[in-house]
Amino acid sequence: MGSKRSMLLNGLGDLLASSAPGAGRFVDLFAGSGAVAIHVATKYEMPVLASDLQQFSVVLAGAVLERKKALPWEECWNDWHQRAERIYMRYRPARLQKVTRQAVMDFRTWSEGQDALHLTKAYGGHYFSPVQATWIDALRRTLPAKPPARTVALAALLHVASKCAASPGHTAQPLQPARSANPYIFEAWSRDVPTLTRMLLQSLSKIFAKREGTAKVADANEAADEIRPSDLVFVDPPYSGVQYSRFYHVLESIARGTAGEVSGSGRNPEPRMRPQSDYSLKRGAKGALSELLGKIAANGARAILTFPAHACSNGLSGDIVRELAREHFQVIEKLVDSKFSTLGGSKVEVGNGRAARHAAQELILCLTPK
Ligand SMILES: C[S@@+](CC[C@H](N)C(=O)[O-])C[C@H]1O[C@@H](n2cnc3c(N)ncnc32)[C@H](O)[C@@H]1O
Repeated sequence: MGSKRSMLLNGLGDLLASSAPGAGRFVDLFAGSGAVAIHVATKYEMPVLASDLQQFSVVLAGAVLERKKALPWEECWNDWHQRAERIYMRYRPARLQKVTRQAVMDFRTWSEGQDALHLTKAYGGHYFSPVQATWIDALRRTLPAKPPARTVALAALLHVASKCAASPGHTAQPLQPARSANPYIFEAWSRDVPTLTRMLLQSLSKIFAKREGTAKVADANEAADEIRPSDLVFVDPPYSGVQYSRFYHVLESIARGTAGEVSGSGRNPEPRMRPQSDYSLKRGAKGALSELLGKIAANGARAILTFPAHACSNGLSGDIVRELAREHFQVIEKLVDSKFSTLGGSKVEVGNGRAARHAAQELILCLTPK
């Protein structure tokens, strides 16, 4: 998953260290991977509120923000694994021997026949091997009943699915069998879902917030109505003219527990299952950001805004964003080197087994209401 993790070591972490203490709450309105919200929640004594249009993002952030102590993961894992194994054993899908076009087609045929395994039916033989997909279905269906164990377990499963998907960086398109792609598919499909889930559950269980916070699905412009003058708001809006839900629909389906009807080589769910954002529309992004900054300023809060310095495919650029910010705030600016996913560029690279990323510069704007 693309995230601000590297920027936390490159300017953003220092800025948060000087701005966060003293704020009443930290509010991350575009949480994504949850990297920034989790960084603040685990370092500073303040509640963190994270929101995003996508459910999977809320699960990743909520698994840490909504908990003030470590989770007894071992007992949780043993019970969960036993429940899931009972389901897995009913299906016993064929194991991966070698990736060939025929083997992949056979995997797809078997998976599409599994009406009771919703995720396997949608994604088996495309993003995941049948063994992986069946485990993902079984683990998803037998999650611990109550939070926080349920949320942490689901977050672990989302991380594992992201590691196992045979796709380049995100899940817009799976790799298709071909001489050049087969080694990457083999590598991805050789990852063992239960082993990785156990590891992820163990490591996530030890990460928790200093003060209890919350994560929720919300449109940033609606969540901004709840902002208080003492909040420090983090704004990392989309820069892509293609909806993020197109790139993360597999994780979104796992978070929801079902993919519904899927179609096309990307195995895309129906449009109603994919959150749509004005920030990824050329005709909507500038108006949406202008309204958002106006609301934050009207509520009297400080904000940190990050955005690529270059012109982006949703029609926004560093210059436009700076200009919008200056209408409402006093602005202090910093420029840092960064790496961007080409997500949303005119071409999404698939088939090379690597996430498409390129070096660029990113603006960090420190905003104080006028
Ligand atoms: C640039 S990413 C944020 C990355 C995040 N800071 C991280 O470190 O992973 C933008 C995020 O905004 C979300 N998003 C898009 N439109 C939104 C809206 N109107 N309200 C809330 N979230 C939105 C997307 O789902 C995506 O997760």
